[in-house]
Amino acid sequence: MPVPIKKQIESLREKLRYHSYQYYVLDDPDIPDAQYDRLYNQLVALEEKHPQLITPDSPTQRVGAKPLSAFDQIQHQLPMLSLDNVFDFDALLSFYQRLQDRLHTEDEIELTAEPKLDGLAISLRYEKGILIYAATRGDGSTGENVTQNVRTMRCVPLRLLGENYPDVLEVRGEIFMPKAGFEKLNRLAKQNDEKEFANPRNAAAGSLRQLDPAITAKRPLSLYCYSTGVVAGEKSAGKLATTHYEILQQLRGYGLPVCNEIKLVNSVEACLSYYEGILKRRDDLAYDIDGIVYKVNSIALQNSLGFVARAPRWAIAHKFPAQEEISKIIDVDFQVGRTGAITPVARLEPVFVGGVTVSNATLHNMDEIRRKDVRVGDQVIIRRAGDVIPEVVRVLPNSRTAPLTEIQILTNCPVCHSAVEKIEGEAVARCTGGLFCPAQRAQAIKHFASRKAMDIDGLGESKVEQLVEQGLINTAADLYQLKVETLTSLDRMGEKSAKNLINALEISKQPMLARFIYALGIREVGETTARNLAKEFKTLAAVQTASYEQLIDVQDVGPIVAKHLVNFLSQEHNQVVIKQLLAAGIKVQNVELDQHHQDNQQDCEFTGKTLVITGTLPTLSREQAKEKLLAVGAFVTGSVSAKTDYLLAGDKAGSKLAKATKLGVSIIDEVTMLKTLG
Ligand code: IVH
Repeated sequence: MPVPIKKQIESLREKLRYHSYQYYVLDDPDIPDAQYDRLYNQLVALEEKHPQLITPDSPTQRVGAKPLSAFDQIQHQLPMLSLDNVFDFDALLSFYQRLQDRLHTEDEIELTAEPKLDGLAISLRYEKGILIYAATRGDGSTGENVTQNVRTMRCVPLRLLGENYPDVLEVRGEIFMPKAGFEKLNRLAKQNDEKEFANPRNAAAGSLRQLDPAITAKRPLSLYCYSTGVVAGEKSAGKLATTHYEILQQLRGYGLPVCNEIKLVNSVEACLSYYEGILKRRDDLAYDIDGIVYKVNSIALQNSLGFVARAPRWAIAHKFPAQEEISKIIDVDFQVGRTGAITPVARLEPVFVGGVTVSNATLHNMDEIRRKDVRVGDQVIIRRAGDVIPEVVRVLPNSRTAPLTEIQILTNCPVCHSAVEKIEGEAVARCTGGLFCPAQRAQAIKHFASRKAMDIDGLGESKVEQLVEQGLINTAADLYQLKVETLTSLDRMGEKSAKNLINALEISKQPMLARFIYALGIREVGETTARNLAKEFKTLAAVQTASYEQLIDVQDVGPIVAKHLVNFLSQEHNQVVIKQLLAAGIKVQNVELDQHHQDNQQDCEFTGKTLVITGTLPTLSREQAKEKLLAVGAFVTGSVSAKTDYLLAGDKAGSKLAKATKLGVSIIDEVTMLKTLG
């Protein structure tokens, strides 16, 4: 006999509820999303055919209600309470001692410790297991009816699981937006030029208070339940437990999401160590929290302690230091990073935020300054989360009483006065005095000496750091003035290594043009671009005097790279350093000279050809093979294209080999290469 439609529908609904529970409550999905979607679509199809069988608790009935013109009011049968706060250990200790006094005991009192979620309180009313309404806290006695929005949240069961729940069950909890969802939402808003939310809490509140549930449905809202309100008609099998901790486990069993960080603690010291543990992990949690809530675990003790005003005597919030505070911008300075990136930094009236006093905060870049419209004199929100650099989040609305002037972009580097470049489409402005700028010194010299650049043996990063820190060198050109006596004053540098280094510097004095161009450390001029430039212009002088138009004609050089080149090469400071390098005895090997050199050597099949190297070669490193090929005037590039003449393939060659085969590129191995080179 075929299964009646009604049964089929009910069974699909039950499956969907079960899988949602696995996903949202247990955080342990047991089927892939696509499988869930298939079940869901089957249900939609059946319900479309049999609309009379649709019930409001069906998983398909989450969105659908029409936009409201305003929210109705809902009177809470039991008030929604708030919590008293403490900010330090002493106040926590007093709370605990008050509990002991009131309960006339000197014994330890069992408490629960749980994260204080930074969202908004909600009360969900279930009758006979069906969600009847969801109301915000409001003033504690009357809230707003946000049922149709809460119904769109897939973590909120429209019907409780099982059967053993009280006839009337009000559940209280916190609706929040997980950080990842918040960031995604703001990224989208930014892309669409819409207003961004200041923080996940505001985003959650804004999303829940939408009159159109279709909008709420698209917002990544979550819920954790943390207590109950009215409970009536308990079944003997499903009577609520006698401790807070167990009640939360029961709620989870009914299909309601509960935070899994909740722990039992038996002393005030245990409270503190829980607090410190969570504080350390605060930034790694998927959601924002602003402290810890401790609650007396026994419901009987809770009842005997009772309430004062709007807060229970049996619970307390132990707040974390705020991560956002208000301060005033006194000035804006610009800092130059090691790569020349220029960052505007706000000088602030000192403010205590995230546990420390902050008087500087980053403004990231000029685009951010414009977007946030930050000006000197503004009242701003400062954020310091964990170990992240404090930042200016936004200007306080309406705080500007007098007109303030816009912050202007720098035209010259505050450190070396070279021109500042800001390339269209890039957020970051940069100093173009790469070879000279003291802020970029160490970085530039490290790059200059590196293996693929001037390949100065024995001049590693730490040696460069020391030389720069001790003021022994200011530019790469100064390297060639170093003496053995100076070098031996460095850490772990004996006479022998010093002599070796001087020798290595001597050897480096005859770089090929491509290497020399690469060594200059011009932005976005990597090895391949440097080689193409050398191939095209042949001499250093020609590269130095090339126009923008000539540069963009070079293979691999687009408008941005061409601009970086022009900006760099036109800086007088950089020109001086290049001159000093040449004066120090560097003889750049022009490409014609290379050619001559090769002619003398003997031409070979690879001369003028383009090769790609891939995989592990039996005896040579890829770098060594490349050197050999370059020496006979071949071009070695990184990716296979129609222009590739040969692919030198070693062991474990992967996608490049496949592509070369497809394009019909000649494939050779190391033995063949060495034979051809003679
Ligand atoms: S218990 C009677 N537990 O904090 C108990 N509240 O400052 C009342 N909150 O309005 C609240 N996480 O919105 C409790 N684990 C938690 C909480 C929590 C966040 C919020 C709640 C309340 C506010 C009080």
